[in-house]
Amino acid sequence: MFLTEEESGMLAGKKGPAVQKAMEILVALGESFGAKRLLTVSNVHMAGSSVLVAEEAGTRFVEDIKRQGGTFVTRVTTNPTAVDPVQWREIGIPESDSALQTRLTDAYAGMGANTCNTCIPYLVGNSPRFGEHMAWGESSAVVYANSVCGARTNREGGPSGLATALTGRTPEYGFHLTENRHGKLLVQVETSLDDMTDYGTLGYFAGRIAGQDTPVFTGIPSDPTLEQLKALSAALAASGAVSMFHAVGVTPEAPTLEAAFGGKTPEKVLVFDEAEKKKAEAALNKEPTDHVDWILVGCPNASVQEIREVAEALERKKVHKDVALWVTTAGAMYAMAERMGYIQTIKDAGGTVVRETCPFLARSRVIAPVKGYRTLTTNSAKMAFYAPGQFGLPTHYGNLNRVMQAAVSGVWR
Ligand code: F3S
Repeated sequence: MFLTEEESGMLAGKKGPAVQKAMEILVALGESFGAKRLLTVSNVHMAGSSVLVAEEAGTRFVEDIKRQGGTFVTRVTTNPTAVDPVQWREIGIPESDSALQTRLTDAYAGMGANTCNTCIPYLVGNSPRFGEHMAWGESSAVVYANSVCGARTNREGGPSGLATALTGRTPEYGFHLTENRHGKLLVQVETSLDDMTDYGTLGYFAGRIAGQDTPVFTGIPSDPTLEQLKALSAALAASGAVSMFHAVGVTPEAPTLEAAFGGKTPEKVLVFDEAEKKKAEAALNKEPTDHVDWILVGCPNASVQEIREVAEALERKKVHKDVALWVTTAGAMYAMAERMGYIQTIKDAGGTVVRETCPFLARSRVIAPVKGYRTLTTNSAKMAFYAPGQFGLPTHYGNLNRVMQAAVSGVWR
């Protein structure tokens, strides 16, 4: 791989051991993917910011990098952690995670990260621009950035994101190259998409078949909301390893079907009709009984609009006494929703707006038994896909209206 004089100097240790180690990671990664050179980038979203992923060893690794003089030379935002910094004790997060998380978050902050700790960095000040080369982790945000914003990023892991943050470089391969951004399979949507849960169901359906390939959707309404597109992005990246989609007439690199496929013919054609929608919804409903005890809204993290919808559903109502309702969001969304009175409404009804973590990145295998949760009920296809396998809870999956009725009645209907 070609390296500039400056990059060769970094690799030789001229900018210190932390940068040298980072450059070694990037060169090894680039060579394994056949990259010809490194790109200069200035935008990193860091996965691996939860101690559930990093644990003690990963935390020590990041602390060591900082001790060796590591300093971030790009903008860096961070993904959710394992801890709500304010309510961790009440919601059942182990004290040991709280202490370890403080060390990891402090190490990132000490090197210059904006520790926003959210999977929706594009809503809290890290908004990618069209054509921008970046190094983002967090699969749902990667799909959103590539597809909706037209930015260019591969799915980065913790070490490669850290290496880019320290050097301002990422190998040029995969979704950085125009020829790899065209669609492979066509998904014809022939049923209504009424809410973000329908978009999540569509993403789950298409992701399972797409694997790593890029799907192209036709039949998606021309005016989906940000929340609907983030639900679609998250589900595609969960049931598949999708990094990008096109929606003809909606996303910026798909003004036409031909442009989306780069003039090529789709390798596969799928139809998402009412029958497939029902089948996909049923596949995400793994809990055979109507028992409800833990409800999650906010995967990906809830926008202010979603928090508002939860608050409106709870006006003059109470969350059932045997149900814990979590609405997970970013600290910045929380602050805005608090100002609008939505947080108070949810609290008064008995729900909890959780900041900076979610059941997937918190230690749910400990939290659930301590709190007595046996099921998870959610409007998120991504969370419904992961919960049974990742933390052993069967799921109820349905739209926000249905989920909020369950929150109040304590029963899944
Ligand atoms: Fe975000 Fe956690 Fe879902 S990181 S996308 S809320 S699994």
